[in-house]
Amino acid sequence: MVGELRPVSAFDGLRDPDERSVALFEELGRVLVHPRCANCHPSDDQPRQGMDQLVHDPPVWRGVGGVGVPGQSCDTCHQAANSTISRVPGAPGWRLASAESGWLGRSPAAICALLSDPERNGGWTLDGLQQHLANDPLIGWGWAPGRDREPAPGSQALAAELARAWIDSGARCPEEAP
Ligand code: HEC
Ligand code: HEC
Repeated sequence: MVGELRPVSAFDGLRDPDERSVALFEELGRVLVHPRCANCHPSDDQPRQGMDQLVHDPPVWRGVGGVGVPGQSCDTCHQAANSTISRVPGAPGWRLASAESGWLGRSPAAICALLSDPERNGGWTLDGLQQHLANDPLIGWGWAPGRDREPAPGSQALAAELARAWIDSGARCPEEAP
């Protein structure tokens, strides 16, 4: 189901509250692991590009605060909106997310544990995370990435609703596959 995201109501049939909570996160996880999102959330120092998630070409590094290194800051090329002339995508404040909370290449179970831990998630409360997910323009870009880029599944509103329902149901995480 590329491009689609199941709404919260699709999980109403799950009677076991923990099972429902895990299922809600797994659906949200389909957004988180999508390249439009994960390309900016690596645990190393280089963003990725495209569906194959290759290292950013030209090579760039996160620098202080994720905004790039001198001479190569992200906003040299990335503007506040997608460029219609060049291939450069854009949104306000374009920069890399922190390495500590990087989830590129991680399993949904590991991402869930990471995002639930304020020591590692950038100091967010779960409500703060949900608000950020609902409103942040960098996240919003994931559904309007420009050119021929595949958008993240669903919509920002639907992802925020899944996150809300996951939190309200106890924010249970999937088990790591043995
Ligand atoms: C251009 C880079 C970029 C893209 C694309 C991007 N993010 Fe982020 N994301 C960030 C940055 C930077 C932060 C830290 C924001 C802050 O602390 O104010 C962040 C923070 C987050 C957080 C809070 C937890 C954390 O790691 O700080 C979540 C959740 C998140 N992003 C989800 C997403 C989702 C979902 C998408 C795709 C739909 C996405 N992001 C796309 C850069 C990006
Ligand atoms: C020299 C110009 C330049 C600089 C500097 C630059 N980028 Fe890029 N970036 C590009 C271009 C061009 C693309 C589009 C490549 C394509 O789609 O063919 C791109 C694409 C991306 C993508 C891919 C989006 C996707 O999902 O495919 C991310 C993420 C990204 N850049 C993050 C960053 C970050 C973070 C920085 C700063 C640390 C940065 N870029 C610095 C030119 C640049």
